[in-house]
Amino acid sequence: MLGWRKISTITKGHLLWVVGVLFLISSCRPEKTEVQPDGYIGFERPEHFPVPEYNFKNNPVTKDGFELGRKLFYDPILSASGTVSCGSCHHQEAGFADPGKAKSEGINGFLGKRNSPALANLAWFPSFMADGGINHIEIMPVAPITDSLEMGNSLFDAVAKLNSSPTYRKLFKRAFDVDSISDQKLLYALAQFMGMMISAESKFDEQLLGKKVFTKSEERGYNIFKQNCASCHSGALTTDFSFKNNGLDITSDDIGGARITQKESDRGKFKVPSLRNVELSFPYMHDGRFNTLEEVIDHYTDGIKPTPNLADELKQPIILSEYDKQDLIQFLTTLTDYNYISKPSLAKGEQNL
Ligand code: HEC
Ligand code: HEC
Repeated sequence: MLGWRKISTITKGHLLWVVGVLFLISSCRPEKTEVQPDGYIGFERPEHFPVPEYNFKNNPVTKDGFELGRKLFYDPILSASGTVSCGSCHHQEAGFADPGKAKSEGINGFLGKRNSPALANLAWFPSFMADGGINHIEIMPVAPITDSLEMGNSLFDAVAKLNSSPTYRKLFKRAFDVDSISDQKLLYALAQFMGMMISAESKFDEQLLGKKVFTKSEERGYNIFKQNCASCHSGALTTDFSFKNNGLDITSDDIGGARITQKESDRGKFKVPSLRNVELSFPYMHDGRFNTLEEVIDHYTDGIKPTPNLADELKQPIILSEYDKQDLIQFLTTLTDYNYISKPSLAKGEQNL
């Protein structure tokens, strides 16, 4: 997937709109809970989560808007060929990753450039993509829709196709009271769905909420995690969203952050990913090089490469016994949120539209 470079295909009018959105976002703080006039509870901030990045005030989650976003997420209509949807690469039962595939298949069977990450808690993301190439949740879908290896479409054609569908015209009318569908409203609907992808009900969350549900092994694993991993994979979101080189290669084929900043000092740096539902989202890293959590941990203990941009946190060796490693894995599996991966409201399922 490409980042800002791709945005250049959008017209000037759209960019002005983007700038407007970014301006508005800085002007007011979001509420904890967004209750709609009809009583529908849209976005609710889990009590142990920080204030989200996304300002829902500009695009309040309504039942109709959310349901429309859900339908769009699973509808291949957004791809040029009519065969690829967001859900083709982001599967709910795997925490919205593409399990077992280092690279995902997009339009015409093309393989993408990076591993499809698990998706959760996107409303808290200050940036998107492994290299941070997208900086707003409303712009996010433009990248996969227009990527020639993913959905191979233009925003213009995607919107035109939606406008030629009487069903979608009706649904956009209901959600946003518009007679004709604009790219802005398409992106609003998808942002509502993505904003509601909240994973906050795992065993890890219960422990954070003071319920002391961890087994001895999970507890030991959590302590090992706090000592060695949580400087980057921090807090309830299990990431500080910084960009770091975690020692995968001396010279990285994928230059990561440097693709966006053009700085040598950002070469091989990638966004610290959230580890929510990590047990299910294999293979791991931006290129899906590790198939198991064991391989990931062996990388941190024995595989760190002394690249010039290596993160300071990883310059001292991490030494773990086989028992420690097993406990750490036990802890990582507490991040699996069974409710999130099975709840009907996020599933493709039957859509009452
Ligand atoms: C062909 C597979 C494919 C399709 C289709 C696809 N994605 Fe993705 N998605 C990916 C890959 C691969 C990445 C990681 C790209 C990167 O880091 O450069 C990604 C990244 C993302 C991210 C950023 C996650 C993060 O951690 O920063 C979001 C959000 C997302 N996709 C949502 C969507 C939505 C919404 C759609 C539909 C409009 C969609 N995706 C369609 C493969 C896909
Ligand atoms: C210096 C910051 C830093 C520290 C410390 C760190 N990580 Fe990471 N971690 C990263 C970065 C950056 C990535 C993404 C690399 C990539 O995409 O290629 C990553 C990726 C991962 C992934 C893959 C996630 C996925 O979905 O692909 C796992 C699992 C992981 N780390 C676990 C750990 C564990 C366990 C520890 C402690 C032993 C740890 N990390 C310590 C920065 C760090």
